Amino acid sequence: MTRLRLLTAGESHGRGLVGIIEGIPANLSISADYINQQLVRRQKGYGRGGRMKIESDRVEIISGVRWGRTLGSPVALYIENRDWQNWQKGMSVSEEDAQSIEPVVRPRPGHADLAGIIKYAQQDIRNVLERSSARETAMRVALGAVVRRMLDEFGISIGSFVTSVGGEVFQVDTSVLKPKDLLALYSQAEGSEVRCPSADVTSKMKEEIDRAKEGGYSLGGRFVVFATGVPPGLGSHIQWDRRLDGRVAQALMSIQAIKAVSIGEGFEMATSRGSEVMDEMVVEGSFSLKNIKRKTNHAGGIEGGITNGMPVVVKASMKPIPTQRKPLRSVDLATGSYVEAAYERSDICAVAAASVVAEAMLALVIGDALLEKFGGDSIEETKRNLESFLKSL
Ligand SMILES: Cc1cc2nc3c(=O)[nH]c(=O)nc-3n(C[C@H](O)[C@H](O)[C@H](O)COP(=O)(O)O)c2cc1C
Repeated sequence: MTRLRLLTAGESHGRGLVGIIEGIPANLSISADYINQQLVRRQKGYGRGGRMKIESDRVEIISGVRWGRTLGSPVALYIENRDWQNWQKGMSVSEEDAQSIEPVVRPRPGHADLAGIIKYAQQDIRNVLERSSARETAMRVALGAVVRRMLDEFGISIGSFVTSVGGEVFQVDTSVLKPKDLLALYSQAEGSEVRCPSADVTSKMKEEIDRAKEGGYSLGGRFVVFATGVPPGLGSHIQWDRRLDGRVAQALMSIQAIKAVSIGEGFEMATSRGSEVMDEMVVEGSFSLKNIKRKTNHAGGIEGGITNGMPVVVKASMKPIPTQRKPLRSVDLATGSYVEAAYERSDICAVAAASVVAEAMLALVIGDALLEKFGGDSIEETKRNLESFLKSL
């Protein structure tokens, strides 16, 4: 990130989550209600664990906003953990409360548990799992909501929809989707408990999750996350770390349990002919740079690390949730004997929630690249700069 800086802090069962975002221009209208709407979206989804029922995340804006508008100063947010009262001793910062709960000593395969205690010289896995947990993504969604509100001002919309859960697949050829098609799929997904645009596939996905619940195992899946209205020219070909495709991949891959990311038809392209998957150019109307369009979007809106004016379309794969109700084999770190891995109340499938987190991460990357290209310390200034660039095309 070059123009936006963000940090999150907070443990899963600690007092709460803290986040700071710096670089949002002044005069952006924003409210806690707007951010809360995004937090609600992250908490939904068929197959989530018990925790989602006790929590209803609400953000508090601590700084950077006065009378409903940003000041250009860092925006600081706070989300209280609703079950903090049950963890006040177990997650206390005071030495006096040490040993008030049993240590976790049975590392779960697929989690940071074992690697984390090796790295940080810990004996209690709780000292790792509290931060490696995806609870942290609530703050990413909150900070992402601020950026999303900013992108709104520039006509950029972010959305997502789920394309598979376990073996159930929603077939869609993203290379032919226009912005309005993507937005329609997004709006259909918003009405689905698994965030899948098809009602028929939604039922099948829910049945698959029911079977997993019964069987004591978890599921993963895939989703599409996109941005429409993105101007050409964000990101750059000139240096490896300025390429937008790389920045998008890093941001999405940083979400817990996301194990593969493709820009556009990234995976499918490997087995296609070049003549089939490069997006041919056509001039629509009178000739100008602005009027050179593409019939297809296999590239997912990014060529040479730069946005080309087509929708940015990204696909991601999520592995199944590591914690299993029917636990896997592990080793007790206190005795060295084989045991069942630790089980804590857990999601069975969180692909729907992950797609909402991915929207936040895509918003951050696009927002960062937009401010990098067009600068500006107020929303008005950034808008003037963008309009002048578009006019020059
Ligand atoms: C929204 C969301 C919810 C998740 N919920 C759980 C959960 O309830 N239980 C669990 O074991 N893992 C859950 N995970 C996945 C783990 O956090 C993740 O697999 C783990 O931190 C290990 O990191 P890695 O899979 O990226 O290597 C969730 C991930 C996301 C994105």
